Amino acid sequence: MENAQISLQSVDALTITILVDNLTDVFMPDEGPARRHPLTSPTAARHPAVTFEEGEVVEQLRGEHGFSALLTVTRGDRSRRVLFDTGVSPDGLVSNMRMLDLVPGDVEAIVCSHGHFDHTAGLDGFIRAVGRANIPVLIHPEFWTRRRLTLPGREPWELPTTSRSALQGAGFEIVEDRQPSFLLDGSLLVTGEIDRTTDFEIGFPLQEALRATSWQPDPLVLDDQGLVLDVRDRGLVVLTGCGHAGIVNTVRHARRLTGQDRIYAIIGGFHLSGPLFEPQIPAVCAAFTDFAPDLIVATHCTGWRAIHRIASAFPNAFVPSCVGTRLEL
Ligand SMILES: [Fe+2]
Repeated sequence: MENAQISLQSVDALTITILVDNLTDVFMPDEGPARRHPLTSPTAARHPAVTFEEGEVVEQLRGEHGFSALLTVTRGDRSRRVLFDTGVSPDGLVSNMRMLDLVPGDVEAIVCSHGHFDHTAGLDGFIRAVGRANIPVLIHPEFWTRRRLTLPGREPWELPTTSRSALQGAGFEIVEDRQPSFLLDGSLLVTGEIDRTTDFEIGFPLQEALRATSWQPDPLVLDDQGLVLDVRDRGLVVLTGCGHAGIVNTVRHARRLTGQDRIYAIIGGFHLSGPLFEPQIPAVCAAFTDFAPDLIVATHCTGWRAIHRIASAFPNAFVPSCVGTRLEL
């Protein structure tokens, strides 16, 4: 794809609703394009709870270590919905959708950013919510790879791997592509594999993959892909799940694929948490200065040090995220 250029159709409006994120905060105020879910909702479900006089307690949005966002894409008078990632628990996604008055059956496609289970476990609850899932799931072929983490001083830990036959059995059409592809009549670009062009974004050095019969180093997480949209008169919106390809690599890749330089928003997990990744923060901030986005929303695995640095370096662009945040772009 080095020199190929893609004609991305612009959209009139885009709403990104954060369905799963590590943080929930009922007191977070609206800010810029971000609208928060109100503390109480008349339609909120109730759980039985004998410790209350009423014998029940009102359901709340749940935070969990994972990511999922719903894109509502408007062109002309038509709005369509695509789900990006599904969170780390079987039920968190559908529970939060219920709280937000969103209907799983309205989703017309799912894109998974990569195969790690903190982005895929909610497929289970999604299937139970819709009965039969006659929609496509877009993934990179490496999505299915069995992986383990090799943390220093600990036994390697194998991550749960999504079952291809289970997804097929549920009715999903599985679409595997290493190359960029489109949804929604050319207005939603799935990047496919992302070129690694920076010298400071290191992938995920703790990871190994099972290749044939042996575990091999697998730092690149080649299945990591993002979404790109062009909001009319504003520029590109780049959305990542965990950002294992590197958030700067991902934005550069989006620019190169589309030929569009103007960056409107950078949203998602940037994976800059902990001593292995925090050294990248200054270089990421320098690149963001060059990208000059109007909006930065750092979620999930970005890490508190990176969030603090980005918030102070880009006070006009940074907007905090929490579960239930609706970004109206
Ligand atoms: Fe993640």
